[in-house]
Amino acid sequence: MKKKSEVLPGIKNTIAVASGKGGVGKSTVAVNLAVALAKEGANVGLIDADIYGPSIPLMFGLKGKPGVTMAGEKNKLVPMEKYGVKVMSIGFLMEEGTAVVWRGPMASSALKQFMSDVVWGKLDYLLFDMPPGTGDIQLTLSQTIPLTGAIIVTTPQEISLTDARKGYVMFQKVNVPTIGIIENMSYYQTPEGSREYIFGKGGGRKMSEEFKVKLLGEIPINTNIRIGGDEGIPLVIGKPDSDEAVIFTKISKDLIKEINLMNTNTSNVSDVVIEI
Ligand SMILES: Nc1ncnc2c1ncn2[C@@H]1O[C@H](COP(=O)(O)OP(=O)(O)O)[C@@H](O)[C@H]1O
Ligand SMILES: [Mg+2]
Repeated sequence: MKKKSEVLPGIKNTIAVASGKGGVGKSTVAVNLAVALAKEGANVGLIDADIYGPSIPLMFGLKGKPGVTMAGEKNKLVPMEKYGVKVMSIGFLMEEGTAVVWRGPMASSALKQFMSDVVWGKLDYLLFDMPPGTGDIQLTLSQTIPLTGAIIVTTPQEISLTDARKGYVMFQKVNVPTIGIIENMSYYQTPEGSREYIFGKGGGRKMSEEFKVKLLGEIPINTNIRIGGDEGIPLVIGKPDSDEAVIFTKISKDLIKEINLMNTNTSNVSDVVIEI
């Protein structure tokens, strides 16, 4: 067994952005939070842990292959860098339009290489954009990745909350604390200024009360958030003064506070990763 602190030396905090379901906005949240944290002056990295469905290259507008080191520590991958964030994704290593057809252990080992064989340097925060679900792979990953904590993304409706709860329980089982819950697609703000609660109201808050975990924020459904993802210009870069970008920025500031708070009482957090 290795200590988590040995797996990623130089990296202060590792955060999984997870959910039970796909399509709830994990990648969107991970990207905008990573960029918002960098805008706060932090050194930030982002690993696309969704090996079978990488979204990060598109959402960052990044093409091409990462470089390989020739001197010093040889043959290590150099993460791509954009918007002040260092990024690594399996998508950079594959031909566009092709799919990863690997069994679970191969996906896990690819992810482990993103930690051990990439020159991350010193980072304040390394975020993991997790795949959906709480199956074998997610469980293995959350045991293998040396995590400071998890952020659970959910949409307000019951079908998403049910799976988000499973995500919370999974992290609990592997001794990874949940830092907070982010409710995404919370409402649609009409041009007249009223709110339509398309997927119901208050689901994220309900879950946060149930598990006594902080609700880090409620992000509305907004066309510009979707466009930002598709065009590779995250909202906090493309429209930094929009209401939604302000919400992402606030969440990133609260996240920093929560993590600092957690790190002052880390004695209960396991520093052991299970080798696979
Ligand atoms: N708050 C939002 N408003 C509008 N579109 C969103 C929002 N959050 C996510 N989306 C869009 O929904 C789709 C799924 O989001 P994504 O982040 O890929 O989800 P996941 O990573 O959980 O599968 C993407 O097209 C994304 O742009
Ligand atoms: Mg995703």
